[in-house]
Amino acid sequence: MDSISANNSLIHFNAICYKALNEHLEKHNFSKIFILVDENTHQHCLPVFLEKLKTDLAFEIIEIESGEINKTIETCVGVWNALSDLDADRKSLMINIGGGVITDLGGFVACTFKRGIAYVNVPTTLLSMVDASVGGKTGVDLGALKNQIGVISDPDLVLIDTQFLDSLPQNQMRSGLAEMLKHGLITGTDYWNKFLDLSKLSMEDLDTLIYESVLIKRNVVQEDPYENGLRKTLNFGHTLGHAIESYFLSNPKKETLLHGEAIVVGMILACYISSRLTGFSKEDTNYIKQLFINYYGKVSIDKTEYAPIMDLLKYDKKNNHGNINFVLLEAIGKTKIDCQVDDAIIEEAFDYYML
Ligand SMILES: NC(=O)c1ccc[n+]([C@@H]2O[C@H](COP(=O)([O-])OP(=O)(O)OC[C@H]3O[C@@H](n4cnc5c(N)ncnc54)[C@H](O)[C@@H]3O)[C@@H](O)[C@H]2O)c1
Ligand SMILES: [Zn+2]
Repeated sequence: MDSISANNSLIHFNAICYKALNEHLEKHNFSKIFILVDENTHQHCLPVFLEKLKTDLAFEIIEIESGEINKTIETCVGVWNALSDLDADRKSLMINIGGGVITDLGGFVACTFKRGIAYVNVPTTLLSMVDASVGGKTGVDLGALKNQIGVISDPDLVLIDTQFLDSLPQNQMRSGLAEMLKHGLITGTDYWNKFLDLSKLSMEDLDTLIYESVLIKRNVVQEDPYENGLRKTLNFGHTLGHAIESYFLSNPKKETLLHGEAIVVGMILACYISSRLTGFSKEDTNYIKQLFINYYGKVSIDKTEYAPIMDLLKYDKKNNHGNINFVLLEAIGKTKIDCQVDDAIIEEAFDYYML
């Protein structure tokens, strides 16, 4: 698998990762290495990583608690203090080993510490490999508002070693798969068709699909880094998906829904809305609904919950001038951005999902 360049980063895959990292360490005159992990990646990923790291440089491990709830400025303060106490200087290198929480927070800490030190991301969840690791967005949450504080800054290297997925829980795998399905729906039939029968996929096939997903995201963000147009298509399924995710999170009576699981529901709703507004084929809509429900099961959303979920749409980051903007499909691979949708059609979409 050839390495991929993305703005100021190089993305390497599997065996080449460690060779590239060790060469990078040799070439740059770093003073010390700081490795950021959470308790899960400390246990499952760090030993594998350290075995491959060949350097005489001293390194320190900084561990934070896992989970989105810890993606906060308070955690950053803890990591900034640890860096300071452990004598990090402007020539230090940070290596973030973990899912999107670690790479988002670690990237933000690195590019703000002493006005920015170099960092490397080692994504260890499927979601962070195909999504969070590409595009240079770093940051943390502000209370309940996701990713409100942050900067766009590229790591020197992104190292995607898919063997880390061996220890990843199944529900986290499915959550990451949702973003790949999204890449299929927004880019077109060649990639999309590869997901129609997951039972036939081998681990090598998965590696290739991860590679292709990274390429798709890289191409989109390269063309539109600041989300003026094309990059918005990556939000397909996310307008209602995020609202459903927040509603389930804040409602103790509802089951736990991972990001990708909520996005799958959001994508089914967006397909239905597309079939009503943009001429997206009804047949494709039904097919996608059935396929996604086969893979993910069905989440229960009662009629009385439509309104509180729709209320949450007003917090969507894609809104501007008070408008709620949807990404819809005209066909598989053909997106339409900045679409406004009447509440009545959103309610119909929920009814269609629950049918
Ligand atoms: N920067 C971006 O462009 C971008 C894009 C998408 C998502 N994100 C962010 O990514 C975050 C979600 O990332 P995520 O889904 O990776 O969640 P996560 O980082 O919370 O990881 C999920 C869980 O898996 C554990 N884990 C990680 N790797 C493991 C492994 N190999 N084996 C066993 N356990 C492992 C973690 O400790 C955690 O408990 C969100 O905060 C989201 O905002 C950022
Ligand atoms: Zn997403």
